[in-house]
Amino acid sequence: MNITRIALAAAVALAAPLAAQAQQAKLKVGLMLPATGTFAALGTAIENGFRLYVDEQGGKLAGREIEFVRVDDESDPSKATDNVNKLIKRDNVDVIVGTVHSGVALAMARAVRESGTPLIVPNAGADAITGPLCAANIVRSSFSNWQPGFASGVMAAQKGYKRAVTIYWNYAAGQESAKGFTEAFEKGGGKVIKELTLPFPNVEFQALLTEIAAQKPDVVFAFFAGAGAAKFVKDYDAAGLRRSTPLIGSGFLTDGVLEAQGASAQGLQTALHYADGLNTPRDNKFRAAYAVRYKLQPDVYAVQGYDAAQILAAGLNAVKGDVKNRDAMLTAMRKASIDSPRGKYTLAAAGNPVQDFYIREAKGRDNAMTGIAVKVLPDPARGCNLR
Ligand code: BEZ
Repeated sequence: MNITRIALAAAVALAAPLAAQAQQAKLKVGLMLPATGTFAALGTAIENGFRLYVDEQGGKLAGREIEFVRVDDESDPSKATDNVNKLIKRDNVDVIVGTVHSGVALAMARAVRESGTPLIVPNAGADAITGPLCAANIVRSSFSNWQPGFASGVMAAQKGYKRAVTIYWNYAAGQESAKGFTEAFEKGGGKVIKELTLPFPNVEFQALLTEIAAQKPDVVFAFFAGAGAAKFVKDYDAAGLRRSTPLIGSGFLTDGVLEAQGASAQGLQTALHYADGLNTPRDNKFRAAYAVRYKLQPDVYAVQGYDAAQILAAGLNAVKGDVKNRDAMLTAMRKASIDSPRGKYTLAAAGNPVQDFYIREAKGRDNAMTGIAVKVLPDPARGCNLR
């Protein structure tokens, strides 16, 4: 080889990786979240958390810039299949992050099981997603509905309550939370004497509150979230029940809505995988950064969005941003140890966080941590055959 050829070959060898880097297109992240309706604020908090983590990495994950493709799913299961298929087939996204509502998320899980698109669920707890519908390309940064329900049942039994009424929106999240509650509460010596339900997102609680007063239980367990939770807690107080009948719930009952609930929520005890006042260096750093960026205190939904980005980053880093190396990326996501503001956790084989559940008490604007309901609680992952 003469000198000119050697120089040319060297220049090509040097330029190739640079060219490859320059050519790496933006990573397309489909964000399917509610931007309207009862759960709109939850969607915003998830997106805030996700973007905060990306910004902390210099605006890129594994060296790749992110292009967000956003869909408002309206928390409407009847539109979910069309919405998710737009992201998969029309927008050709590399990964999907979504959503809040269990019914919508179930449709998303079915669609990505067919397409193979990686899906990170940043809230919706539908048990089936990490149960019979579990798949190598689906993970959650949140919880299964069973988990906070179970933790609330442990908390209620420990407090010595014996007769409980459950009240919830009659769809997967409410049904499965109440099931988890009943399992732990009855194991702990209690009895659920009545289940009261109304369709999502109905907030006409009056007739059900009258029924609670008639039943005279020791305690009421409720699953509501977002704007519906804000109204339920106020109506419960206005009906005069707060003084006679303790109200508890999974922490969605008071998370992100304490300001709207005002005095009606003060003293309410809930169980959840996040709380105010954890006072760990990791959480303090996250909360300070979130407050500076959004002029708001974060809630559980913001943490779950932040962790969805952390899980994605773990997968992308393992394949140096090459999402075509899908199997290796998915394996790394599942094996990641997440340094979360809520505390460190890992994912079980089914893709669901194995995590601590805190007891919290509403004090001022905080769901203040007062204890631990269950440490390191895995979802039973019933019906999942990934091991
Ligand atoms: C759900 O539908 O899974 C859900 C919605 C809001 C809060 C928690 C769970």
